[in-house]
Amino acid sequence: MYGYFSEEVIEEIKLRNDIVDVVSEYVKIEKKGKDFFGLCPFHKEKTPSFSVVPSKQIFYCFGCGKGGNVIHFIMNAENLDYVEAVRLLAERANIQIAEVESREEKLKAKLRQEILNINVEAARFFFENLNSAQGEKAKKYLEKRNIQEHIVRRFGLGYSPEEWDKLFLFLENKKFSKESIVKSGLVLKNRKGGYYDRFRGRLMFPIFDLRGNVIGFGGRVLDSSMPKYMNSPETIVYNKGRNLYALNFARKSNEKSIIMVEGYMDAISLHQHGITNTVASLGTALTETQGRLLKKYADEVIVAFDSDTAGQAATLRSLELLDSIGCNVKILTLPQGKDPDEYIRSNGAEEFRKLVKNSLSVVEFRIKTIKKETDTETTEGKIKFLDMAAEVLSKIDNNIEKEMYVKKIASEYGISEESILLEIDKKIRAKNYRKLAVRTNNNVRNIIQKKSLDKMAEKQIQDERIFLVLLCIDNGLFRNLRDRININLFTDEQNKRIAEIVFSRLENEREITPDELLDIAGVDLAHIFAEIISELSHCDDIYKAIMGKITSMEMYHIKNRQKQIVSVLENQTGLTEGDVEKLKQELLQLTLLIKNRKNK
Ligand code: UTP
Ligand code: MN
Repeated sequence: MYGYFSEEVIEEIKLRNDIVDVVSEYVKIEKKGKDFFGLCPFHKEKTPSFSVVPSKQIFYCFGCGKGGNVIHFIMNAENLDYVEAVRLLAERANIQIAEVESREEKLKAKLRQEILNINVEAARFFFENLNSAQGEKAKKYLEKRNIQEHIVRRFGLGYSPEEWDKLFLFLENKKFSKESIVKSGLVLKNRKGGYYDRFRGRLMFPIFDLRGNVIGFGGRVLDSSMPKYMNSPETIVYNKGRNLYALNFARKSNEKSIIMVEGYMDAISLHQHGITNTVASLGTALTETQGRLLKKYADEVIVAFDSDTAGQAATLRSLELLDSIGCNVKILTLPQGKDPDEYIRSNGAEEFRKLVKNSLSVVEFRIKTIKKETDTETTEGKIKFLDMAAEVLSKIDNNIEKEMYVKKIASEYGISEESILLEIDKKIRAKNYRKLAVRTNNNVRNIIQKKSLDKMAEKQIQDERIFLVLLCIDNGLFRNLRDRININLFTDEQNKRIAEIVFSRLENEREITPDELLDIAGVDLAHIFAEIISELSHCDDIYKAIMGKITSMEMYHIKNRQKQIVSVLENQTGLTEGDVEKLKQELLQLTLLIKNRKNK
């Protein structure tokens, strides 16, 4: 995304959005020395490891590794992409921005819009078809499932014709290009070059984004044939892991919690019964992006998965993920074999609300699962239950919370508080001991691997990055060290690309700051560079540091060449005597060079 906005615009936006001010709107940070510290907004923690370095205009969390400049902060905090984050900051500072789009960007934006148009047309087409003679079967099916007319409208449900290419012909007739139609994922191309519709004879569920655009579809068969659902593939407008079904409605429900179910049908059914703070995860394991979306729109997420899947690994991982990003999670348990849709249809909204009220915290849920799996009637079972429950409780680092659970479990399961506390204490001791042991082991391993090639290559890549950071901290070094700075020092392709941009700016006598380096590095690398910047932010001898890095980068190349020559000489195939002599000479020179450097 670097290059989407002009450098001047980005600079202006950053100048008017000081990172300390912006971060303070989201997190409480306190000044300690030159920097600010606080609890990280991006992961759950009890002691502050989140830092803001005003002099370098960056943030970095030592706990979760997230880091970057003010733009990256907004991307993470508001769940936006780079361009959207820049726009938000521009607005915050009342700056008008003219966006310079590259040709490529313009084409992409055009395709995006075209596919959104295709999707809307397709949704209309499916809807019309549902309400025509052709859609009778689907209408009956919806009736059978008690889906009311106003819900069909609200969710834009439709029916895809049981024919090969009716949608394709309809879209072509609307003057969309074949290429775009195929890129929408709604139509496929066969081997003979013909086109056919992906969804045929299915009940259609349009998937909306937060702005109400149709970004994809799910399609259900009307009988029990397989596969039950078919979904749009990932397209330029549809990314499964970034969306939640019905969130566009749920976020307007004015509830402080969001209920997450698995299926389209579950979500629709709950909405019909007035539980409008419901979203569906679309049957896949929850992603971090989805988790952040939920956190943004709700104080609490209530996970209501079918009882047969509630104990499954994917579900537990979803819970852990939500927990780890600091989301309050609760688990709603349904009676055996029921899904939310079936439950609310037979028991009504009031009963469902009771289940919501009785939903369990993650800790309670875990303990309940353990209880279900052990027979606490026997002494052996009791001991096992206590052991496993203590393991869960030992992971809670808030003492008040822990105490509350101990009391609860003690009274609920008829165990004394003392014995539970004792068991927890044992677990914590064991864990601390293991941590120590792992740390020692890692040190030994590091020493052994230090000399291996991989490690050297890795160190080189990191050196390259440190070098770039140092250069951005003190631009003057570039002129002073011009004869030793060379693009060929870089081994990593991404570092090389970044270096080229940095060098060309410095060559043109234009300044570059560490936070600008993060924009050039790009979203995926920003946190790595932010970590380096935060480490070096108070380095008092930049010159010495950069000299050290240049020397070790040069050394890396020299040693590599040395190794290369040795291996060529070892299997001398196809070398003339002259070649061998030349190589030996070079090797000697390299060895002397290394020796000299070492003596310096
Ligand atoms: P369910 O089987 O629980 O679907 O799958 P449902 O929504 O309750 O549908 P009904 O009640 O049987 O009509 C949960 C979700 O998993 C995805 C869909 O998103 C579905 O809503 N899924 C399921 C698929 O993508 N493909 C499948 O074949 C099955
Ligand atoms: Mn169902």
